[in-house]
Amino acid sequence: MSDLLHVVSPTDLTDADRAIILSRAGVLKASDPNPVPNRLRVGALYFNPSLRTRASFEQAVRIVGGSCQTMNATSDTWALELDPDAVMDGDKVENIAEAARVLGQFFHILGVRSFRGTAPWDVERTEPVLRKIAHYAGVPIISLEGTTHHPCQGLADVMTLHETFGPDLRGLPVALSWAYHPKALPTAVPQTFLMQAALAGCDVSVVHPHGFDLDREVLDSARSEASARGGKVTVTHDRLGGLRGRRVVYVKSWGRLDRSGPTDPELRTWQMDESAMSGTDHGRVMHCLPVRRNVVIAGEVLDGPRSLVVQQAGNRMWAQAALVEHLARRQGVIP
Ligand code: CP
Repeated sequence: MSDLLHVVSPTDLTDADRAIILSRAGVLKASDPNPVPNRLRVGALYFNPSLRTRASFEQAVRIVGGSCQTMNATSDTWALELDPDAVMDGDKVENIAEAARVLGQFFHILGVRSFRGTAPWDVERTEPVLRKIAHYAGVPIISLEGTTHHPCQGLADVMTLHETFGPDLRGLPVALSWAYHPKALPTAVPQTFLMQAALAGCDVSVVHPHGFDLDREVLDSARSEASARGGKVTVTHDRLGGLRGRRVVYVKSWGRLDRSGPTDPELRTWQMDESAMSGTDHGRVMHCLPVRRNVVIAGEVLDGPRSLVVQQAGNRMWAQAALVEHLARRQGVIP
């Protein structure tokens, strides 16, 4: 790949990049300035559904004076073949190699959402779709949620932590807590929260049942980043022990990486409710949304004073505005 800054993982941003973006996001949120129209053109290509990302990303680009065009790759475009070496004698009409090159001529920045595909985890974890589009488009890519990470969600999450606990998050005791869901959900959000909290130097407790391990390399990298910043990462299967004394509990469902069977319905007891939260230190609750109310998190928690979930979602717009602005300035598209 070239020296274009593709934001696919939280670690693609340096500490300096992150500080600029988070500071600018706070300024934009506080001032809600009238956008100054500019020539910035941003595309957003979705291979999967979205409510928050789609709405907040379009508004984010408008906040910094650009225009954003959203395309749904499963209905608005030709059926895309994602393998540049494919013999296209089936139902796919256009190869990603041409499609991405064309989109790269229209847009200065391209957002892409592409969840995990059907290949084994060790292939999918490398974000093959996002990387191919980045390769052919020749413009910076922003992941709007990939297989391994959801960096835009991560920026909004750390912005929300700053608003709640101040600018220095080092040593803050947080938990990333697995919750039951009838479907095997992706691991991008929990892995990004883990990494983002580690990059902020938090003391992160990862709490999940046996068999729901996160990606080994992400975990090792988070441990190393946390330790370099005065934090730490521990993993436990003792739910109440892992939540004890935590100031924040990030609740998230995720499926087994090896996709070895459905989630055991007995794990429904991992719903986050007031009883489970009672051992925390006045713990606040985070979740990326959408959330299955009274399955993943009890309604009483979502509606109560612990909940940060709506604030988090609102911060998506400001964090993305600052991220898009940062990349556009880096490209020399806006001053
Ligand atoms: N949190 C999040 O990315 O929401 P959407 O899937 O609705 O975009």
